[in-house]
Amino acid sequence: MINFKKAIADAIADVTNLDTKELETYIEIPPNADLGDYAFPCFKLAKSLRKAPPMIANDIKENIKVDENLIEKIEVVGGYLNIYINKQALVKTVLEEIDAKKEKFGSSDMGQGKNVVIDYSAPNIAKPFHIGHLRSTVIGGSIYKIYNFLGYNSVGINYLGDWGLQFGKVMAGISLWKDEYDFQNDEMTSILKTYIRFNKEEKEKPELTDLAREYFKRLEDGEEEIVKMWEHIREISLENYQKTYNLLNSKFDSYNGEAYYNDKMQPVVDELQEKGLLKESQGAHVVDLEEYGMPPCIIITSAGTTIYATRDLASLKERIKKYNFDKAIYVVGNEQQLHFKQVFKVLELMGYEEYSKNCVHVPFGLVVDKDGEKIGSRKGNSVFLEDILNEAIDKVRTIIEEKNPNLEDKEEIAKKVGVGAIIFNDLSNSRIKDEIFDWDMILNFQGETGPYIQYIYVRTKSLLEKAGYIPEFKDVNIGKITEKAEIEIIKLLYKFNIIIQNAAEKNEPSILARYLIDLSQSFSSFYNDNKIITEDKELQNARLYLTYSVGTVLKTGVELLGMEMPNKM
Ligand code: ARG
Repeated sequence: MINFKKAIADAIADVTNLDTKELETYIEIPPNADLGDYAFPCFKLAKSLRKAPPMIANDIKENIKVDENLIEKIEVVGGYLNIYINKQALVKTVLEEIDAKKEKFGSSDMGQGKNVVIDYSAPNIAKPFHIGHLRSTVIGGSIYKIYNFLGYNSVGINYLGDWGLQFGKVMAGISLWKDEYDFQNDEMTSILKTYIRFNKEEKEKPELTDLAREYFKRLEDGEEEIVKMWEHIREISLENYQKTYNLLNSKFDSYNGEAYYNDKMQPVVDELQEKGLLKESQGAHVVDLEEYGMPPCIIITSAGTTIYATRDLASLKERIKKYNFDKAIYVVGNEQQLHFKQVFKVLELMGYEEYSKNCVHVPFGLVVDKDGEKIGSRKGNSVFLEDILNEAIDKVRTIIEEKNPNLEDKEEIAKKVGVGAIIFNDLSNSRIKDEIFDWDMILNFQGETGPYIQYIYVRTKSLLEKAGYIPEFKDVNIGKITEKAEIEIIKLLYKFNIIIQNAAEKNEPSILARYLIDLSQSFSSFYNDNKIITEDKELQNARLYLTYSVGTVLKTGVELLGMEMPNKM
């Protein structure tokens, strides 16, 4: 596609002898298109050119040589150059690109040959898959797809919490209450019930905690029977988690979790020792980070055991070796901010600065109800992710039964819309904010929601169906696309790739989510104010092609968020 910004920057560079790249960064998009499609603030040059901004603006305007096929006119307003691009050139370049790339429109190969390792979901298994892990799963899943779309090789790692006292609790619980639950027929539910009951009862009976510790110790010591039991519980839990992952369409390239690193930590401890980074402190072995304003990073506790940070360092070393990553992204809650800062710092001190500087923690807020209370925080009120997803599907099914009972493939559509609504709700605001979970909002088909975007997409589909054809690009007369609403849509399509790049750069899928709302709303107002199927067949072709283009981008965008697009609703 034509790079208008670059063309403008090049032309300004010619008359000012300043650096094109730098000039390009100054170019703005005015809030109102009446002030131009682009604006150049000349006060940025006042210092180097030693002139008042309005004078600079006039000078540039007088002397600039622009390609009339690209730039329509330039106006000076105060210290600004307002630049109006040639709309026909814009329409042409966008639609040509859509014709060439179809559902790949917006993609790029900027990441070719680069590996991005994304650590996401990472639930603590043998425990219920809690709503708290929805966010990491959904945000990480979208980041994974976005990087792939930009040509990177995404590696999705589900760093399972598959080691720890929770297994001791489940095993101790099973030893006590085996006969009280239906382990024969419904093992997972029985495991979960055992775990929940154990947590409740241990509050009054501390001897239960001792029993859990004992079981965990036996596991750590490698007692054969206990290890077998652990393997079995891990497998059953994973199978169960897989049901939720299937609903969410989550994919991972590796499930190497905490347990996998059990025998891989000693080399890290040795290396830290060799490099003189370990210090003894109150019986523990730590890396002192005082100089960097952080508490010490504990590597070996006073009880002689390795901990969370030790494992993360071992896993980082492996990720360096195995993937030689260009970026390592950790999609983990905000409360682990300090942990990751410490781990990345220690990696740097070990001499891996090349890698540590490319490690990013991508934090996010809590899931709260509409009164701001953390969901599932009240005692005994555990909220399982699978239940929530199924509830969403049920609710959509009910709506379909009411409004469109003859719809084909109701079940599939209910799934795409219900699950999509949950995913979109999670991604629609900047991730660091708490996510408000409110059914009325999530499923509002008129609001800024997943179902709204899906509904607009279905509209584009039914329009094309009604017309009976999708025009070929060669049969489209570009000159017919002139309405303000149409140009607004074209401009949004033009920036799709930039939006995706921004979303990747900031690890912020909400940038894409907001964009898809904007595009849907723009299409909706265009559609409300203009006839698409008309007598004028040239006009009809052009508008149908625009309709097709919007549909294509909405579908691509929604899929990059991890949602699925229904064809009917
Ligand atoms: N299982 C952990 C938790 O639920 C998250 C793990 C995140 N990943 C990591 N490499 N530390 O809190």
